[in-house]
Amino acid sequence: MLQVESVRYLKEENQIIILDQTLLPTKEEYLTISTIESLWEAIVKLQVRGAPAIGIAAAYGAAMAAQKLDVTSYEAFNQEYQAITAYLASSRPTAVNLFWALNRMEQIVKDHSHQSVAQLKVQLIEEADLIKKEDAQMCKQIGEHALTLLEDGQTVLTHCNAGAIATAQYGTALAPIYLAKERGMTLRVYADETRPLLQGARLTTWELMKAGIDVTLITDNMAAMVMQQGKIDAVIVGCDRIAANGDAANKIGTYGVAVLAEKHGIPFYVAGPTSTIDMDTKTGSEIPIEEREAIEITNGFGKQTAPDGVKVYNPAFDVTPHELITAIITEKGVIERPDEAKMRAMFGE
Ligand code: MRU
Repeated sequence: MLQVESVRYLKEENQIIILDQTLLPTKEEYLTISTIESLWEAIVKLQVRGAPAIGIAAAYGAAMAAQKLDVTSYEAFNQEYQAITAYLASSRPTAVNLFWALNRMEQIVKDHSHQSVAQLKVQLIEEADLIKKEDAQMCKQIGEHALTLLEDGQTVLTHCNAGAIATAQYGTALAPIYLAKERGMTLRVYADETRPLLQGARLTTWELMKAGIDVTLITDNMAAMVMQQGKIDAVIVGCDRIAANGDAANKIGTYGVAVLAEKHGIPFYVAGPTSTIDMDTKTGSEIPIEEREAIEITNGFGKQTAPDGVKVYNPAFDVTPHELITAIITEKGVIERPDEAKMRAMFGE
């Protein structure tokens, strides 16, 4: 298992330590965060990224800011806490884990109106700790379920980074790879570089190599060819929000990989904890898709690669229709050929 913590809270100092993912793979440096403004910025700049890690960071951010509220009445605390939540919720729109974690934290405030502000502050830290702990457990269970779909010696293609550093531990799409390694099995990985911010090239290869896993980097436009050459047995990707009908938003380019997998008869798996499932969003068309600045495409990593003033469209995510998904893998189990009825059944609805 990869021994890297993407988000950590220091109780005594009331500070959040974040692995700065924008500096990888060349520098492994940690940011010390002590204001919600700097946490908001870290989320927007992708210094902390990946749906579950964003949720964990936001939960600690809310808890950290709450510690500093200099009020004594519940009403005043609640009012200021709402403002903290609204601010953090404005950082990124697509990954539902952000809103899921903030809602969970807010519920603590709502449910404990009879308690002192001092007690509430402690409970908020405990809840953020729990969100992180549960995420690690969910990721491990996702890995267990995903392993039932894979065989020793197989090669998996992944897109973006849904690994340990995008979660509390293990990752989602990469969880079965780490578990396989722990059990003496061999799974090989092809990592799409993932234009334009190169999460695959910079992060997925970094963490897999660090863990001693066989990984091969390809550019995004090579996925079709490696599938055609028979090099890929399965695709596993993470997700930022799964709608009630099983449509799944993930890093831009995922949809294309799903179409390619279908064409080549390769199973296409989406791995994510139930905190990434949004049953209030009926279909993928309702998922808000973040659009990011043109400069990420025209001047990626400091080099200008397009003419000044060129029109740019830069959606950060796309939606894979559920018809293209062989199975969704959550901590609760595997939903084959997902649809709304199967999704609701998993939640006991
Ligand atoms: O923009 P990013 O880097 O936050 O996008 C991340 C992804 O698309 C991941 O695949 C997803 O969040 C799952 S992380 C376990």
